[in-house]
Amino acid sequence: MTKKPVIAIDGFSSTGKSSISKIIAKKLGLIHMDTGALYRGITYFALQHCLNEEQLLDIPKLIANLTKIQLEFQNVDGELKLFLNGKNIDREIRFPQVSDYVSQVAKEAAVRQFLLATQRDIAKKGGIIMDGRDIGTVVLPDADYKFFMTASQDERARRRFLELEQAGEKTDIETVKQNLMNRDKIDSEREVAPLKQAYDAILIDNTSINKEETIELILSYIKKF
Ligand code: C5P
Repeated sequence: MTKKPVIAIDGFSSTGKSSISKIIAKKLGLIHMDTGALYRGITYFALQHCLNEEQLLDIPKLIANLTKIQLEFQNVDGELKLFLNGKNIDREIRFPQVSDYVSQVAKEAAVRQFLLATQRDIAKKGGIIMDGRDIGTVVLPDADYKFFMTASQDERARRRFLELEQAGEKTDIETVKQNLMNRDKIDSEREVAPLKQAYDAILIDNTSINKEETIELILSYIKKF
């Protein structure tokens, strides 16, 4: 039997990267790591401990406190949940306030450097599917397979809105679309590890195909191992 592959899945917000990666990981017997959760975990910490008097993020304070942050994924009933300094924060990292601030935190070089080692360490053993924004370009440039996911802004906003609605969050589709567009802009234009398609990544546009069809499409590129 050949070695289990390392798969990088990058792309825009709300293209279904994480939920699709999770299912593919299960089907292929790989570990799945949602790297966006790590950036959200740091943002959640910052919102609790690093706001200034005007309730704005104090980035220098966050950077000075990075060593106080311990993030790890723990298996809870068969699902990997994110823990911050021993507390399960899996639900909290999806709060709209975290989504509003996360791209500001993620554009900081010190934050990206802090998370780089964690991400590479986990991938060392192989057999992993990692999703994010810079996995194929920066974190795992030698990945066996690279995919870059996109879909129209309206379709992505619709999907995210339905997800939030199901989770009981009160919001409206315009606010959701605005947040997606802001994040994509900051993520694509930042200096360090911007969101972009790796030259050797396969483009997957799932505007008009559903989750199952997207999974089948991605699987069709992966050779048996
Ligand atoms: O994947 P998700 O939408 O949860 O990611 C939240 C944010 O984390 C992104 O908008 C981006 O700012 C940041 N991120 C990143 N690099 C990654 C994964 C996420 O900058 N590899």
